[in-house]
Amino acid sequence: MARTSLMAGNWKMNLNHVEATGLVQKLAWTLADAKYDPALSEAAVIVPFTDIRTVQTLVEGDKLPLKFGAQDVSVHASGAYTGEVSADMLAKLNCSYVVVGHSERREYHGETDELIGAKAKVVFEAGMTPIICCGEVLEIRKQGTHVEHVLGQVEDCLAPLTAEQVAASVIAYEPVWAIGTGEVATPEDAQEVCGAIRGYVTDTFGAAAGEAVRIQYGGSVKASNVVEIMAQPDVDGALVGGASLNADEFAKIVMYYAAG
Ligand code: 13P
Repeated sequence: MARTSLMAGNWKMNLNHVEATGLVQKLAWTLADAKYDPALSEAAVIVPFTDIRTVQTLVEGDKLPLKFGAQDVSVHASGAYTGEVSADMLAKLNCSYVVVGHSERREYHGETDELIGAKAKVVFEAGMTPIICCGEVLEIRKQGTHVEHVLGQVEDCLAPLTAEQVAASVIAYEPVWAIGTGEVATPEDAQEVCGAIRGYVTDTFGAAAGEAVRIQYGGSVKASNVVEIMAQPDVDGALVGGASLNADEFAKIVMYYAAG
């Protein structure tokens, strides 16, 4: 069965809820004008917690062909965890996706693969889909051990999940050296690691999981480079940072299938 690509715009800590309204409306108009077909490429916005309710109201009220989600989640169900947001709270807002283990969470908040795997589990238990991030820093890339390094992250992050959950997961390969730097991995670099991840999933969780799991590339994805990245057999979408803050640019990325 063919995998539907997923283009997810990670807004990071940008846009308050008023600004979010403007971007989502402009994105929806731009996609509608271009005759976007969600069956060919799924589009999602991954927004700050404070924007979710607003985005939900817009998407559901106007029946926009957009999914939405959160950038992180607490591993705890409820209780004395000041500042945290639970998976049930996000599910109640009808989030489809939750990003877990973004490299910025790993770097600035010390998140480990074990914690990230536990977060992926709570996301599934609440009825949503995790976008599980992995990727190597420049030093590892220079040493040439990036494939083993990323597979080690993937192994630990997927360990708590069942084969069915792995099959339904989204894994985002984001080489840290290509995030926000303008430095984009070549399509062959992206394929090398995404292919290895699919191979690992197939070997560990079975052929059905390997066939079904969606693997994204992230790191300086733009309208001008998305087509060649998406041409790689094991790349099923993109996790887009900076370029997702511009409606025209992100619409072109979502509609990569219509380019050329
Ligand atoms: P950029 O697209 O800005 O490089 O960010 C990538 C990213 O981190 C998406 O999660």
